Amino acid sequence: MSSPVTTSANPSNATQFGMGSARAFERAKHVVPGGSMRSATWFAPHPPYAARGEGCWIEDIDGHRILDCANNFFSLIHGHAFPPAVEALRDVIGRGTAFGLPTEYETALAEAIRDRAPRCEHVRFCNSGTEAVMFAVKAARGLTGRPAIAKMEGAYHGAYDHLEVSLGSGPANWDGPGGDPAAVVYDRGTPPGVASDVVVLPYADPERCAAILEREGPRLAGVVLDTLTSKAGMVPPPQGTLDAIRDACRRYGIMLICDEVIGFRLAHAGAHTVFGLEPDLIALGKIIGGGLPVGAVAGPADRMAVFDHTHGAPAVAHGGTFSANPLTMVAGLVTLEAFDKPAVDRLNRLGDTLRARIHAGFAAAGIAAQMTGYGSLFRLHLTSAPITDYRSCYPDALAKTAIPKIHLAMLDRGILLTPNCSGSLSTPMGAAEIDLIATALVEETTRVLAS
Ligand SMILES: Cc1ncc(COP(=O)(O)O)c(C=O)c1O
Repeated sequence: MSSPVTTSANPSNATQFGMGSARAFERAKHVVPGGSMRSATWFAPHPPYAARGEGCWIEDIDGHRILDCANNFFSLIHGHAFPPAVEALRDVIGRGTAFGLPTEYETALAEAIRDRAPRCEHVRFCNSGTEAVMFAVKAARGLTGRPAIAKMEGAYHGAYDHLEVSLGSGPANWDGPGGDPAAVVYDRGTPPGVASDVVVLPYADPERCAAILEREGPRLAGVVLDTLTSKAGMVPPPQGTLDAIRDACRRYGIMLICDEVIGFRLAHAGAHTVFGLEPDLIALGKIIGGGLPVGAVAGPADRMAVFDHTHGAPAVAHGGTFSANPLTMVAGLVTLEAFDKPAVDRLNRLGDTLRARIHAGFAAAGIAAQMTGYGSLFRLHLTSAPITDYRSCYPDALAKTAIPKIHLAMLDRGILLTPNCSGSLSTPMGAAEIDLIATALVEETTRVLAS
């Protein structure tokens, strides 16, 4: 698939209204609740159905070509059908896809992760980021003998009960006693008792973070931190918050768990190196699987020994039928090999260029909007007020109506963002793609805000 040449609105490319996709959605509704296997991939009236992908382009089943900035929720670093991954998969698939035995592929991927990120000295693979953060939390409990964890208000870490706490709290229920963030269970699938083992921290309020950690520290097994959490604005935490967490972890023997399921793409040795953190446990996922299902928990050998099963029952059990399957391992290996330091730096610079172009465009158009993010990640906000945390980007009436419109308008321009108008870059992208994204986003945001 070659690149499109147009950068102007192209109504004939009305991707979300393709008849093939409309029919596919109608068919799905008979066997899938809501017609979609993942809530995150659905948006009204219905998404286009993908037929194939190559590099940073997708073709849907109606033949529309779409520049992919969603990258399957930031899990594809080289885009689609990355030739070395396709070749490695072809080579391996004919020799068996899963064994009740270890393979050398799993050791090779663990070594590749350790070699680039020395803090990931020992590694255990699983099948998703959700499992990775869950196993890291269990490891922290096993290491400390304590039940509770702390996490940031609004931060998404996957679908484990404790980590969903205060993922969806709002103005009606987010204030707890004394003005601290309340621990609010996510939905009716979570037992209410879970909230008592979760302490919720305010991302951008270091003094309050320090006070809460001082009070709750003795019962905490771990603090879970994503240093660029999208739901809390996709902005880094203030240094004071990092200092408060580091001090509390040292004082009370709390495990620092960095969730780098997305963040691993931000630096060659992982996001924790950007912020000078020395996590006890690191949750990985997404790009390390080369486009296949994956998760991993990693950390210094003495911490990871909590999973060691060779001296009787391990302190924390870890398994998984498809964990470390050879397909994921070989795809992950060639993917990380090609995402070397120059590639990471180039992609991060491309992200800086994109954000700068968009900010300049918004300023020239005189509209109150901004782009947060870091490296190859970005997210649109329809305000010029500072975005600092979950509350500062909690959707107001304008965002609730305008963000979905901008998302669809971008799709009409042949560019796929996530439904909340965040996105990620992939290595096949270059200046031409940055130009397409920036031009379309500034024009469509301006148009929607004026309507
Ligand atoms: C920061 C973070 N942690 C964990 C997860 C869960 O990963 P998965 O969807 O692979 O279970 C996600 C998913 O988007 C994530 O963004």
